[in-house]
Amino acid sequence: MAAASARGSIDVSLVVVVHGGGASNISADRKERVHEGIARAATEGYNILKAGGSAIDAVEGAVIVLEKDPEFNAGCGSVLNAKGDVEMDASIMDGKDLSAGAVSAVRCIENPIKLARLVMEKTPHCFLTGHGAEKFAADMGIPEIPVENLITERSKKHLEKEKLEKGAQRADCPKNLGTVGAVALDCKGNVAYATSTGGIVNKMVGRVGDSPCIGAGGYADNNLGAVSTTGHGESILKVNLARLALFHIEQGKTVDEAAELALNYMKSKLKGLGGLILVSKTGDWVAKWTSASMPWAAVKNGKLQAGIDICETRTRDLH
Ligand code: GLY
Ligand code: GLY
Repeated sequence: MAAASARGSIDVSLVVVVHGGGASNISADRKERVHEGIARAATEGYNILKAGGSAIDAVEGAVIVLEKDPEFNAGCGSVLNAKGDVEMDASIMDGKDLSAGAVSAVRCIENPIKLARLVMEKTPHCFLTGHGAEKFAADMGIPEIPVENLITERSKKHLEKEKLEKGAQRADCPKNLGTVGAVALDCKGNVAYATSTGGIVNKMVGRVGDSPCIGAGGYADNNLGAVSTTGHGESILKVNLARLALFHIEQGKTVDEAAELALNYMKSKLKGLGGLILVSKTGDWVAKWTSASMPWAAVKNGKLQAGIDICETRTRDLH
């Protein structure tokens, strides 16, 4: 005879947290646009959850908003490589069954995160790169767009400045570390993450960072929670930053302690700076960074909080 059981819905909070990458020297007028963009992305993710969408739908939806926003280093607004071209990395993961999809060094598409999700859902693989990823995009009916549509005046100036100031590619930790990402917890207790980036300015052609690498750029497991990271890709890869933060959750640490331990390890071991957002399976969340600042926004139970610097958090109710 089957064991007796009782069923009921799990009483979990809906949570979405997004980040807009580590950054320094954000001018006052740009700060307002960044605030507006990051809040819009979190609201989009939350509205998807509120309408009954899954965590994976919410993180994809939030990241699409940021990929379309030229203020952020992902999709349109991506930083340029040493040849002045855009090569983008993205990954996504569903904590329900650990299914994951990633793409790297993709060009001429509007939303790399959509392609990463298609890799997850429509192929037997986790990760497609370069030419193969672009062929898969075409097979899936994703339109190719002119590279100019992804390049902004700001990203052109950024590359010029970097080349003038620093010359060739550097091995040390750069100051502008952009990436966008989202984590979410849905009403069924599923967590997910999505991360997308143009990488690091003046990078070598073909350089792939942490963002498309499962465990480094993000991780999601319903038993633990979900993380999306930002910062110096070469450092994040070496410490597996997202999985490291969840390891500390596994060891019984709070979300705050886990994020701090993981980021401090990367800083002390490699002088690597960055940030992460984490939501636990019980809906506790944190946004933490060792870079100069990190635009972030979170919505939990209809309350939106957002910030860029440690000194400032804005709060409002969503209706
Ligand atoms: N372990 C080799 C591969 O899966 O590509
Ligand atoms: N974290 C983004 C990159 O290094 O590409």
